[in-house]
Amino acid sequence: MDYSFDDYLRLNKLRVNSTLEQNIGSFESPYSNGDSSAYLGKLRQAIEYSLLNGGKRIRPVLVYAAAEAIDPKLRYRTSGTADEHTVAETENLDAIATAVEMLHTYSLIHDDLPAMDDDDLRRGQATCHKAFDEATAILAGDALHSRAFEILTELRHCPSKTQLKLLSTLAKAAGPRGMVGGQAIDLAAVNKGIDIQQLETLHQLKTGALIRAAVAMGAIYGQANPEQLQSLDSYAQAIGLAFQVQDDILDIEGDTDTLGKTQGADIALNKPTYPSLLGLENARAKAQELHTQAIVSLAGLGESARPLRDLSAYIISRNR
Ligand code: IPE
Ligand code: IPE
Ligand code: MG
Ligand code: MG
Ligand code: MG
Repeated sequence: MDYSFDDYLRLNKLRVNSTLEQNIGSFESPYSNGDSSAYLGKLRQAIEYSLLNGGKRIRPVLVYAAAEAIDPKLRYRTSGTADEHTVAETENLDAIATAVEMLHTYSLIHDDLPAMDDDDLRRGQATCHKAFDEATAILAGDALHSRAFEILTELRHCPSKTQLKLLSTLAKAAGPRGMVGGQAIDLAAVNKGIDIQQLETLHQLKTGALIRAAVAMGAIYGQANPEQLQSLDSYAQAIGLAFQVQDDILDIEGDTDTLGKTQGADIALNKPTYPSLLGLENARAKAQELHTQAIVSLAGLGESARPLRDLSAYIISRNR
Protein backbone atom coordinates (compact mmCIF):
# COMPACT_ATOMS: atom_id res chain seq x y z
CA MET A 1 0.00 0.00 0.00
CA ASP A 2 1.05 3.56 -0.62
CA TYR A 3 1.95 4.74 2.86
CA SER A 4 3.99 7.37 4.65
CA PHE A 5 3.65 7.86 8.40
CA ASP A 6 3.89 11.66 8.13
CA ASP A 7 1.00 11.69 5.67
CA TYR A 8 -0.94 9.24 7.81
CA LEU A 9 -0.56 11.44 10.87
CA ARG A 10 -1.39 14.61 8.99
CA LEU A 11 -4.48 13.19 7.30
CA ASN A 12 -5.90 11.64 10.45
CA LYS A 13 -5.21 14.78 12.50
CA LEU A 14 -7.10 16.82 9.89
CA ARG A 15 -9.88 14.33 10.08
CA VAL A 16 -10.34 14.56 13.84
CA ASN A 17 -9.77 18.33 13.86
CA SER A 18 -12.58 18.85 11.41
CA THR A 19 -14.94 16.68 13.49
CA LEU A 20 -13.96 18.60 16.63
CA GLU A 21 -14.73 21.86 14.84
CA GLN A 22 -18.11 20.55 13.73
CA ASN A 23 -18.86 19.71 17.34
CA ILE A 24 -18.19 23.17 18.74
CA GLY A 25 -21.77 24.22 17.99
CA SER A 26 -23.01 21.49 20.32
CA PHE A 27 -21.57 23.46 23.26
CA GLU A 28 -23.79 26.42 22.49
CA SER A 29 -25.83 27.57 25.46
CA PRO A 30 -29.53 26.66 25.24
CA TYR A 31 -30.20 30.31 26.06
CA SER A 32 -28.42 31.53 22.96
CA ASN A 33 -30.58 32.91 20.19
CA GLY A 34 -29.09 30.31 17.85
CA ASP A 35 -27.00 32.85 15.97
CA SER A 36 -23.52 31.70 16.95
CA SER A 37 -21.81 34.72 15.42
CA ALA A 38 -23.85 37.05 17.61
CA TYR A 39 -23.73 34.94 20.75
CA LEU A 40 -20.47 33.53 21.96
CA GLY A 41 -20.91 32.37 25.53
CA LYS A 42 -17.83 32.41 27.72
CA LEU A 43 -18.10 28.68 28.36
CA ARG A 44 -18.23 27.87 24.69
CA GLN A 45 -15.34 30.22 23.99
CA ALA A 46 -13.24 28.52 26.68
CA ILE A 47 -14.02 25.10 25.20
CA GLU A 48 -13.16 26.22 21.70
CA TYR A 49 -9.96 27.84 22.97
CA SER A 50 -8.83 24.66 24.73
CA LEU A 51 -9.95 22.15 22.11
CA LEU A 52 -9.08 23.70 18.75
CA ASN A 53 -5.37 24.37 19.06
CA GLY A 54 -2.01 22.65 18.86
CA GLY A 55 -2.88 19.30 20.43
CA LYS A 56 -0.94 16.41 18.88
CA ARG A 57 -4.13 14.29 18.66
CA ILE A 58 -2.25 11.08 19.40
CA ARG A 59 -5.19 9.41 21.14
CA PRO A 60 -7.66 9.96 18.28
CA VAL A 61 -5.07 8.75 15.77
CA LEU A 62 -4.66 5.63 17.92
CA VAL A 63 -8.43 5.04 17.67
CA TYR A 64 -8.22 5.12 13.86
CA ALA A 65 -5.04 3.05 13.69
CA ALA A 66 -6.38 0.33 16.00
CA ALA A 67 -9.66 0.06 14.09
CA GLU A 68 -7.94 -0.38 10.74
CA ALA A 69 -5.33 -2.77 12.17
CA ILE A 70 -8.29 -5.07 12.86
CA ASP A 71 -10.41 -4.24 9.81
CA PRO A 72 -8.43 -2.72 6.92
CA LYS A 73 -11.71 -1.70 5.28
CA LEU A 74 -12.00 0.98 7.96
CA ARG A 75 -8.94 2.74 6.54
CA TYR A 76 -9.84 6.31 5.62
CA ARG A 77 -10.16 6.97 1.92
CA THR A 78 -10.20 10.42 0.44
CA SER A 79 -11.44 9.32 -2.96
CA GLY A 80 -13.96 6.89 -4.43
CA THR A 81 -17.67 6.55 -3.89
CA ALA A 82 -19.00 5.55 -0.51
CA ASP A 83 -22.32 3.90 0.29
CA GLU A 84 -24.48 4.87 3.26
CA HIS A 85 -22.92 2.19 5.45
CA THR A 86 -19.32 3.25 4.72
CA VAL A 87 -20.22 6.86 5.47
CA ALA A 88 -21.72 5.84 8.82
CA GLU A 89 -18.59 3.84 9.68
CA THR A 90 -16.30 6.75 8.89
CA GLU A 91 -18.47 9.13 10.89
CA ASN A 92 -18.70 6.72 13.81
CA LEU A 93 -14.92 6.38 14.01
CA ASP A 94 -14.63 10.17 13.85
CA ALA A 95 -17.13 10.39 16.70
CA ILE A 96 -15.19 7.88 18.82
CA ALA A 97 -11.91 9.71 18.13
CA THR A 98 -13.58 13.02 19.02
CA ALA A 99 -14.98 11.65 22.28
CA VAL A 100 -11.53 10.45 23.34
CA GLU A 101 -9.92 13.82 22.49
CA MET A 102 -12.61 15.72 24.41
CA LEU A 103 -12.03 13.55 27.45
CA HIS A 104 -8.29 14.12 27.17
CA THR A 105 -8.67 17.90 26.75
CA TYR A 106 -10.86 18.05 29.84
CA SER A 107 -8.12 16.22 31.76
CA LEU A 108 -5.53 18.78 30.61
CA ILE A 109 -7.68 21.79 31.59
CA HIS A 110 -8.20 20.38 35.07
CA ASP A 111 -4.58 19.18 35.38
CA ASP A 112 -3.41 22.79 34.87
CA LEU A 113 -5.68 24.31 37.54
CA PRO A 114 -4.03 26.02 40.53
CA ALA A 115 -5.30 23.24 42.83
CA MET A 116 -3.51 20.67 40.68
CA ASP A 117 -0.32 21.44 38.71
CA ASP A 118 -0.89 25.21 38.61
CA ASP A 119 0.44 25.67 35.08
CA ASP A 120 0.33 28.84 32.98
CA LEU A 121 1.02 27.42 29.53
CA ARG A 122 -0.69 24.65 27.55
CA ARG A 123 -0.55 23.84 23.85
CA GLY A 124 1.47 26.99 23.24
CA GLN A 125 -1.01 29.39 24.81
CA ALA A 126 -2.15 30.54 28.26
CA THR A 127 -3.90 27.76 30.19
CA CYS A 128 -7.70 27.89 30.20
CA HIS A 129 -8.00 29.29 33.74
CA LYS A 130 -5.44 32.01 32.90
CA ALA A 131 -7.12 33.03 29.65
CA PHE A 132 -10.60 32.92 31.23
CA ASP A 133 -11.04 32.22 34.94
CA GLU A 134 -10.96 29.22 37.26
CA ALA A 135 -14.71 28.62 37.38
CA THR A 136 -14.95 28.74 33.59
CA ALA A 137 -12.03 26.31 33.27
CA ILE A 138 -13.66 23.87 35.68
CA LEU A 139 -16.94 24.07 33.77
CA ALA A 140 -15.25 23.79 30.36
CA GLY A 141 -13.65 20.56 31.58
CA ASP A 142 -16.95 19.29 32.95
CA ALA A 143 -18.72 20.09 29.67
CA LEU A 144 -16.10 18.28 27.57
CA HIS A 145 -16.32 15.28 29.88
CA SER A 146 -20.12 15.00 29.57
CA ARG A 147 -20.19 15.67 25.86
CA ALA A 148 -17.62 12.89 25.25
CA PHE A 149 -20.05 10.29 26.56
CA GLU A 150 -23.05 11.86 24.86
CA ILE A 151 -21.27 11.64 21.49
CA LEU A 152 -20.83 7.89 21.97
CA THR A 153 -24.60 7.53 22.32
CA GLU A 154 -25.09 9.16 18.92
CA LEU A 155 -23.39 6.54 16.69
CA ARG A 156 -25.37 5.31 13.68
CA HIS A 157 -25.89 1.70 12.53
CA CYS A 158 -23.78 0.47 15.43
CA PRO A 159 -24.86 -2.65 17.38
CA SER A 160 -25.94 -1.61 20.89
CA LYS A 161 -23.61 -4.19 22.40
CA THR A 162 -20.65 -2.50 20.69
CA GLN A 163 -21.87 0.92 21.72
CA LEU A 164 -22.23 -0.12 25.36
CA LYS A 165 -18.74 -1.60 25.33
CA LEU A 166 -17.34 1.67 23.94
CA LEU A 167 -19.10 3.67 26.66
CA SER A 168 -17.97 1.40 29.48
CA THR A 169 -14.38 1.32 28.19
CA LEU A 170 -14.13 5.12 28.21
CA ALA A 171 -15.94 5.45 31.54
CA LYS A 172 -13.64 2.97 33.24
CA ALA A 173 -10.50 4.58 31.81
CA ALA A 174 -11.59 8.06 32.83
CA GLY A 175 -12.69 7.23 36.36
CA PRO A 176 -11.23 6.29 39.75
CA ARG A 177 -9.75 3.05 38.40
CA GLY A 178 -8.17 5.01 35.57
CA MET A 179 -7.14 8.60 34.87
CA VAL A 180 -8.77 10.29 37.86
CA GLY A 181 -7.36 7.63 40.21
CA GLY A 182 -3.90 8.26 38.73
CA GLN A 183 -4.23 12.01 39.15
CA ALA A 184 -5.18 11.50 42.81
CA ILE A 185 -2.09 9.36 43.40
CA ASP A 186 0.05 11.90 41.49
CA LEU A 187 -1.04 14.72 43.80
CA ALA A 188 -0.67 12.58 46.92
CA ALA A 189 2.87 11.57 45.87
CA VAL A 190 4.26 15.12 45.73
CA ASN A 191 7.11 15.59 48.22
CA LYS A 192 6.89 11.92 49.21
CA GLY A 193 9.38 9.26 48.25
CA ILE A 194 7.62 6.64 46.15
CA ASP A 195 9.28 3.60 44.62
CA ILE A 196 9.48 2.68 40.95
CA GLN A 197 6.64 0.17 41.21
CA GLN A 198 4.30 2.81 42.64
CA LEU A 199 5.42 5.29 39.99
CA GLU A 200 4.65 2.77 37.27
CA THR A 201 1.13 2.27 38.63
CA LEU A 202 0.62 6.02 38.86
CA HIS A 203 1.73 6.54 35.25
CA GLN A 204 -0.31 3.62 33.98
CA LEU A 205 -3.40 5.14 35.54
CA LYS A 206 -3.03 8.87 34.93
CA THR A 207 -1.84 8.55 31.32
CA GLY A 208 -1.84 4.88 30.32
CA ALA A 209 -5.53 4.26 31.01
CA LEU A 210 -6.85 6.69 28.39
CA ILE A 211 -4.31 5.62 25.78
CA ARG A 212 -5.28 2.02 26.45
CA ALA A 213 -8.96 2.97 26.06
CA ALA A 214 -8.27 4.75 22.74
CA VAL A 215 -6.69 1.59 21.31
CA ALA A 216 -9.38 -0.68 22.79
CA MET A 217 -12.19 1.49 21.43
CA GLY A 218 -10.79 1.40 17.91
CA ALA A 219 -10.39 -2.37 18.18
CA ILE A 220 -13.89 -2.83 19.62
CA TYR A 221 -15.39 -0.79 16.79
CA GLY A 222 -13.41 -2.94 14.31
CA GLN A 223 -15.00 -6.05 15.92
CA ALA A 224 -11.69 -7.50 17.13
CA ASN A 225 -11.76 -11.06 18.45
CA PRO A 226 -10.58 -11.78 22.05
CA GLU A 227 -7.08 -12.74 20.91
CA GLN A 228 -6.70 -9.54 18.88
CA LEU A 229 -8.04 -7.47 21.77
CA GLN A 230 -5.44 -9.06 24.02
CA SER A 231 -2.55 -8.30 21.62
CA LEU A 232 -3.68 -4.73 21.17
CA ASP A 233 -4.09 -4.30 24.91
CA SER A 234 -0.50 -5.46 25.54
CA TYR A 235 0.62 -3.00 22.89
CA ALA A 236 -1.44 -0.20 24.46
CA GLN A 237 -0.15 -0.87 27.97
CA ALA A 238 3.41 -0.57 26.72
CA ILE A 239 2.91 2.64 24.72
CA GLY A 240 0.70 4.17 27.45
CA LEU A 241 3.51 3.91 29.96
CA ALA A 242 6.13 4.88 27.37
CA PHE A 243 4.12 8.01 26.61
CA GLN A 244 4.39 9.25 30.19
CA VAL A 245 8.06 8.22 30.50
CA GLN A 246 8.77 10.40 27.45
CA ASP A 247 6.60 13.20 28.90
CA ASP A 248 8.76 13.08 32.06
CA ILE A 249 11.97 13.11 29.97
CA LEU A 250 10.75 16.09 27.94
CA ASP A 251 10.02 18.00 31.13
CA ILE A 252 13.82 17.94 31.63
CA GLU A 253 15.30 18.06 28.16
CA GLY A 254 12.57 19.72 26.12
CA ASP A 255 12.20 23.46 25.63
CA THR A 256 9.12 25.48 26.50
CA ASP A 257 8.56 26.84 22.98
CA THR A 258 8.58 23.42 21.34
CA LEU A 259 6.68 21.71 24.14
CA GLY A 260 4.00 24.39 24.29
CA LYS A 261 4.00 23.91 28.07
CA THR A 262 6.46 25.01 30.74
CA GLN A 263 9.65 22.95 30.78
CA GLY A 264 10.82 22.04 34.31
CA ALA A 265 7.31 22.05 35.81
CA ASP A 266 7.79 18.61 37.42
CA ILE A 267 11.05 19.58 39.11
CA ALA A 268 9.51 22.85 40.35
CA LEU A 269 6.69 20.89 42.01
CA ASN A 270 8.95 18.05 43.16
CA LYS A 271 6.87 15.48 41.26
CA PRO A 272 8.03 11.88 41.18
CA THR A 273 9.03 11.04 37.58
CA TYR A 274 11.00 8.35 35.75
CA PRO A 275 14.14 10.51 35.42
CA SER A 276 13.89 11.64 39.06
CA LEU A 277 13.79 8.04 40.25
CA LEU A 278 16.00 6.31 37.68
CA GLY A 279 18.08 9.05 36.05
CA LEU A 280 17.74 10.24 32.45
CA GLU A 281 19.72 7.43 30.82
CA ASN A 282 17.69 4.69 32.50
CA ALA A 283 14.46 6.51 31.74
CA ARG A 284 15.42 6.60 28.05
CA ALA A 285 16.28 2.90 28.16
CA LYS A 286 12.90 2.18 29.77
CA ALA A 287 11.07 4.01 26.97
CA GLN A 288 13.03 2.03 24.37
CA GLU A 289 12.29 -1.25 26.14
CA LEU A 290 8.57 -0.44 26.21
CA HIS A 291 8.64 0.36 22.50
CA THR A 292 10.20 -3.06 21.82
CA GLN A 293 7.49 -4.69 23.94
CA ALA A 294 4.81 -2.82 21.99
CA ILE A 295 6.19 -4.07 18.66
CA VAL A 296 6.42 -7.66 19.93
CA SER A 297 2.78 -7.48 21.05
CA LEU A 298 1.73 -6.77 17.46
CA ALA A 299 3.55 -9.79 16.04
CA GLY A 300 0.28 -11.54 15.16
CA LEU A 301 -0.97 -8.58 13.14
CA GLY A 302 0.27 -7.90 9.66
CA GLU A 303 0.75 -4.88 7.44
CA SER A 304 -2.51 -3.28 8.60
CA ALA A 305 -0.87 -2.61 11.99
CA ARG A 306 1.94 -0.56 10.47
CA PRO A 307 0.56 2.81 11.66
CA LEU A 308 0.37 1.40 15.21
CA ARG A 309 4.04 0.38 15.03
CA ASP A 310 5.01 3.80 13.74
CA LEU A 311 2.95 5.51 16.45
CA SER A 312 4.90 3.61 19.10
CA ALA A 313 8.21 4.80 17.62
CA TYR A 314 6.85 8.35 17.41
CA ILE A 315 5.74 8.33 21.05
CA ILE A 316 9.26 7.68 22.37
CA SER A 317 11.08 9.93 19.88
CA ARG A 318 8.78 12.98 19.92
CA ASN A 319 10.13 16.33 21.11
CA ARG A 320 6.73 17.75 22.11
C1 IPE B 1 -0.14 15.58 27.79
O1 IPE B 1 -0.66 14.84 26.72
C2 IPE B 1 -0.62 15.02 29.08
C3 IPE B 1 -0.16 13.68 29.37
C4 IPE B 1 -0.98 12.72 29.58
C5 IPE B 1 1.25 13.41 29.49
P1 IPE B 1 -0.22 15.14 25.22
O2 IPE B 1 1.28 15.24 25.17
O3 IPE B 1 -0.86 14.16 24.33
O4 IPE B 1 -0.82 16.59 24.99
P2 IPE B 1 -1.45 17.24 23.68
O5 IPE B 1 -2.81 16.65 23.53
O6 IPE B 1 -0.57 16.96 22.51
O7 IPE B 1 -1.50 18.71 24.01
C1 IPE C 1 -0.98 14.62 33.05
O1 IPE C 1 0.26 14.36 33.55
C2 IPE C 1 -1.89 13.49 33.10
C3 IPE C 1 -3.26 13.94 32.82
C4 IPE C 1 -4.25 13.21 33.13
C5 IPE C 1 -3.56 15.23 32.18
P1 IPE C 1 1.20 15.64 33.58
O2 IPE C 1 0.77 16.59 34.65
O3 IPE C 1 2.60 15.18 33.58
O4 IPE C 1 0.88 16.30 32.15
P2 IPE C 1 1.51 17.66 31.63
O5 IPE C 1 3.01 17.48 31.66
O6 IPE C 1 1.03 18.74 32.52
O7 IPE C 1 1.00 17.75 30.22
MG1 MG D 1 -0.29 16.49 36.41
MG1 MG E 1 0.58 18.73 34.46
MG1 MG F 1 4.18 16.09 32.44
